[in-house]
Order: sequence, then C-alpha cells, then structure tokens
Amino acid sequence: VGKKKVAVLAGDGIGEEVMKEALKVLARTSELFPEVQTTYQHALIGGAAYDVHGVHFPEETRAICAASDAILFGSIGGPVEEQHLPKWKDAEKNALLGMRKAFDLGVNVRPAKVYPALSHASPLRHDLISGGVDMVIVRELLGGIYFGKHSTDGDSAEDVCTYTVEQIKRPLEFAFEAAKSRRKKLTVVDKANVLDTSRLWRRVALEMHKLHPEVQLDFMYVDNAAMQLIKAPSYFDVICTENMFGDILSDAASVLPGSLGLMPSASLGSQIYLYEPSGGSAPDLQGLNVANPAAQILCTAMMLRYSFGAHSAAAAIETAVDAVLDSGIVTKDVARPGQASVSTSAFGDAVVKALKN
Ligand code: NAD
Ligand code: IPM
Ligand code: MN
Repeated sequence: VGKKKVAVLAGDGIGEEVMKEALKVLARTSELFPEVQTTYQHALIGGAAYDVHGVHFPEETRAICAASDAILFGSIGGPVEEQHLPKWKDAEKNALLGMRKAFDLGVNVRPAKVYPALSHASPLRHDLISGGVDMVIVRELLGGIYFGKHSTDGDSAEDVCTYTVEQIKRPLEFAFEAAKSRRKKLTVVDKANVLDTSRLWRRVALEMHKLHPEVQLDFMYVDNAAMQLIKAPSYFDVICTENMFGDILSDAASVLPGSLGLMPSASLGSQIYLYEPSGGSAPDLQGLNVANPAAQILCTAMMLRYSFGAHSAAAAIETAVDAVLDSGIVTKDVARPGQASVSTSAFGDAVVKALKN
C-alpha cells in the first residue's frame, strides 16, 4: 500500500505548537503500526497565509489539500482585540468556512467525555458525572445561518437560515449509525417550537428513524439541551443538530472534559476529510508552550479511524492519551489547584512514550 498524503495546516495562535506534538505522535504510531505510513505536505491557512499571500485561504493551499488523503488542521484566528486588522478581518469566514465549503464537509463530529482522572477539571458536581459521561455531538456544517444570505442595510441587518432535506439527511445518517455502534440513543436538538427549519429537521429525523428502529430517538429544544448538558450530561449518547446550535453546544460540552484542549473533531464529507480541535487558536497561550495538545493529538486518532480505517492505531493513540492523563501528567488547563503541570511538548513526549501496539 502507498503512503497516505496528509495536508498539515497548523494555522495561527497555538496551532503550530500543538501540531508539532500531533506529528510526533503520528511518527511513533507509524513505527508501531506498519499499516500507518504517511507523508506530509505543509500549507498556510488563516493569518499565517495572509502574511505571505494576502489571503486567508490561498489557492496553493486548496490545491495541496485537494491532492491529499486527509487534512490535519490546527486553528486559525487572531486575538479578539485585533479583529479589526486586515490580517484577521473575516479570517474565520474565509479560511474555515472556505475549507468546509471547498471540500463539502457537511458532517462535524465532536466527541466529549469526562476522563475519570480529570473529574476535578470538570466544574460539575461529582454526583452529576459519576454515572459516566461520554457523548458525541454531530453538527451539520454546511447549512443554516452560517451559509445563508448575510446583509446589512443601514440600521438593519439580516442572516438567513435555510435547510434542505438533503443537507439534513447527511449528519442524521451519520448520527443514526454512530448511535448503533454506541448506546443506541439519539437526541435531535432543535427549536421546533419556533423555527420552520427545525420542523423540517424533525420531519426528516422521524422519516429516517423508520430505517433505524433499533435506535431510541428523542427531540429536545436547544435551550433545554444547553441546560441538560450541564445538569444531566450522562443522559446523552449521540446528539445531532444544526450548524449554529452544534457550535454553541459543543463549546458548552467542553466543560465536561474540563478544557477545549481535550476536544477533537472530524469534519466528514464526500471527498477528503478534515480534522481539527473544536477550540480556537487561543492567542492568550501562543508561544508559551502551555497549550494542551491532546485535542490535536486525538484528531490524528480520528483521522486514522475515519480516513484511513486504521482502527487499532487510532485506539492506541486514544489509550495512550488516557494513560498519560491517568498517570497524573497534565497541562495547566486541567491541573488541580497546586498540582504540577507539564508543558505542551512534555505532554506530547509522554504520549509518545505511552504508545503501545
Ligand atoms: P479559543 O477556543 O481560542 O479559546 C477559548 C479559551 O479556551 C481560552 O481561554 C483558551 O486559552 C482556551 N483553550 C483553547 N484551546 C486550548 C488548548 N488547546 N489548551 C488550553 N486551553 C485552551 O476561543 P476564543 O478565544 O473565543 O477565540 C480565539 C480565536 O480563535 C478567534 O480568532 C476565533 O475566531 C478563533 N477560533 C477558531 C477556531 C478554529 O480555527 N477552528 C475555532 C474557534 C475559535
Ligand atoms: C468552530 C468555530 C467556527 C465555527 C468559527 C471560528 C467560524 O467556532 O469550529 O467551532 O463557528 O464553526
Ligand atoms: Mn465553535
């Protein structure tokens, strides 16, 4: 078998630092699992691309991604107080939404769980999480208000939310299948008491449920879901929802593991898939060697699983991250008060050391 081509787009902020650790882990994985053989093509995206090419998503980067088997993405975007600078203006729309559109990435998968060793990092009371928390949020990624018409006319502005049955089916199909391989529970989150798009989601979900009768399906309004994620997180198995609700709920769910630095994600579509942490470029941590690289490392596991079918290698990376956390090696974001923490690179080294086949 030939080597898999991975486009590596570190991006801005902590992107470079955490990507370095993910590549270290992948290199060790290749030594242990001969079926995992990769080559890397690095490319610029976001503010880093703007500095060189004057655009956030250069044609050269698009071409490198298009010629690859998978895209490993860091994060992009600048500090909130610098958003007005041309380097950062619309960087997220151009780069992230641009990538999603260019590669038809309609299904975003964001797992969230409580790591037993990190239960202190979750702000939730012990009895709320002691039942075990392990969910996956499936977020539609190419529709809704993100991709509707945006316009401003003097003192009025609008953002239009549109969905088609075809768009809704894609994440739901993934979500039903995911539920079947898990605890067989699917919660579709919407605002069907108000929105027509939500009523369409319900119609499609109910129709599809006939094909997946073994899955227990229920519906929840998004405001209630935001509360239940905090109040009864063990309730959830698979959540499927539209683009913006999924964006917000996945950040809310990141308090369960205790940090955005523990939330990987996979964006799946009809061609090449993209893997990126759910969080952002954390400009507050840039250059300090303190960011948690776990999300980026766990992205490589998702890549091995979904793009390359290398299931044992993927599981080995996840097990190694678990083992490192269990052994009390943690970055600052998830350390107990007074507990010593390790640097970004030391955490990566520890995962490399813990990897076993
Ligand atoms: P953020 O996710 O970058 O940071 C939110 C908080 O989480 C910060 O306190 C940060 O320090 C912490 N955090 C995030 N990742 C971490 C990690 N790996 N380890 C430890 N702590 C971590 O969100 P923000 O501050 O709202 O946005 C910063 C920039 O990132 C903005 O420009 C935003 O648009 C962009 N952004 C990009 C993406 C992406 O590239 N996919 C996603 C979200 C936000
Ligand atoms: C995410 C991010 C992006 C989104 C932003 C930066 C455009 O928050 O990937 O969750 O809203 O999708
Ligand atoms: Mn987000």
